[in-house]
Amino acid sequence: MSDILRRGRLASVPDEEIIEFTSSMSADKWIFNSDILVDLAHTVMLKERNVIRAEDCREILKGLLKIREEGIEKLDHTYEDIHISLESRLIDMVGEDVGGRMHSGRSRNDEVATCIRLTLRNELLMIMEDLLALRNTLIDVASENVDTLMPGFTHLQHAQPTTLAHHLTAHANAIGRDFERTRDCYTRVNMSPLGAAAFASTGFDLDRERTRTLLGFDGIVENSMDAVSSRDFLIETASVFANLMINLSKMAEELVIWSTSEFAFIELDDRYASTSSIMPQKKNPDTAELLRGKSGVAIGSLMSLISICKALPLSYNRDLQEATPNMWRSLKTTRSSVRVMNGMIATMKINKENMAGLATAGFTTATELADTMVRVCDIPFRTAHQIVGVLARGNGEPTLGEIDAVAHNVIGESLSGRGLTEQMVNEALDPILNVRKRTVTGGPSPDTMQQLVSNCRSR
Ligand code: ARG
Repeated sequence: MSDILRRGRLASVPDEEIIEFTSSMSADKWIFNSDILVDLAHTVMLKERNVIRAEDCREILKGLLKIREEGIEKLDHTYEDIHISLESRLIDMVGEDVGGRMHSGRSRNDEVATCIRLTLRNELLMIMEDLLALRNTLIDVASENVDTLMPGFTHLQHAQPTTLAHHLTAHANAIGRDFERTRDCYTRVNMSPLGAAAFASTGFDLDRERTRTLLGFDGIVENSMDAVSSRDFLIETASVFANLMINLSKMAEELVIWSTSEFAFIELDDRYASTSSIMPQKKNPDTAELLRGKSGVAIGSLMSLISICKALPLSYNRDLQEATPNMWRSLKTTRSSVRVMNGMIATMKINKENMAGLATAGFTTATELADTMVRVCDIPFRTAHQIVGVLARGNGEPTLGEIDAVAHNVIGESLSGRGLTEQMVNEALDPILNVRKRTVTGGPSPDTMQQLVSNCRSR
């Protein structure tokens, strides 16, 4: 190769190790298509501004389209980045007298920033679609399970009876916020740095507004120094993804726990499971475990981005090249995780009997029993809490007789004397009635959940 950047100022050429160290070619596959679009838009604008001739413009555009058709593989991968490799290929095709005019009024600094934003913008749109699909799946499965009892947990200890719909719509709400955060950062990603050149703009009479329109950006990053040097949109996106991956990881953790023999709430579809090479009976929830693990990749990418960008002086510094692949890593991991989670939820088998069977285990109805005492017997909640707490030291659910005995010790009188009946106790201990009573907005009662599900759908 005759490196078109190494014919002037630089005399010696880098060896393989240095090329490998300095090149961004492998990560630049993410921006190949974007780079062609940026080249096309810049060239059209140069012609409209009479910086290049119409016939040269035509040749350059034709060449660029040809290069796109040939694909990235045809490019010389020994160049330090896709931009110069692409320009070099163009010059090979149409000659330097034509192809050598494309880079007028431009630097790789504004070029790469534009390419990253263009690629990221499209990826954000796709991930937003995937997030909506996952949210829909959660809502669909929830709407089929407004009556499916299960124990609700705090500290992973049985706490109060609830329903699977209540549990799944909680996740659906979190995914909805992830969608909103993604949409919000899209507005800052979709801004054009093109025309900033190296950092000081250019003496050519460029039209930044024109390339912005051609490339479909919502606005321009106005200050040309800011345009080439800022990567806060990457940090912001990676942070949104880290947050999203933490939400997915929490769900994955539950899928793993729910798949155990101890819980046996769900069974993942076989396509999301693996077996053991030695233990023939094993069905392992590997896909959920991997998703949990991959959240670390998204968090790590964010940490790398933050560390690389910290304390960089204005304007462009080559350190920024090291930042970009972290975005792609985070993006790839996050997008596939959203899609895989969607599939796991949509295809999992729900073991309603086991869920319902455990709904009252661990005296989950204790709160409702205490509340009943407050409502019927007119005692303070704190006193009822004490009485039921003492009863909870025993095994299982208490009878009215046991309640009265403890009440005597605590307040010096029985609660049946204050109107508590056997039937009231039984009702308080019934998980179905527990759930039905929780009609406060956002609570698990089937009617409330039905409402929440339809709110989710229309939002
Ligand atoms: N490959 C570089 C990057 O990803 C873009 C080119 C800017 N290079 C330069 N030497 N000014 O940031």
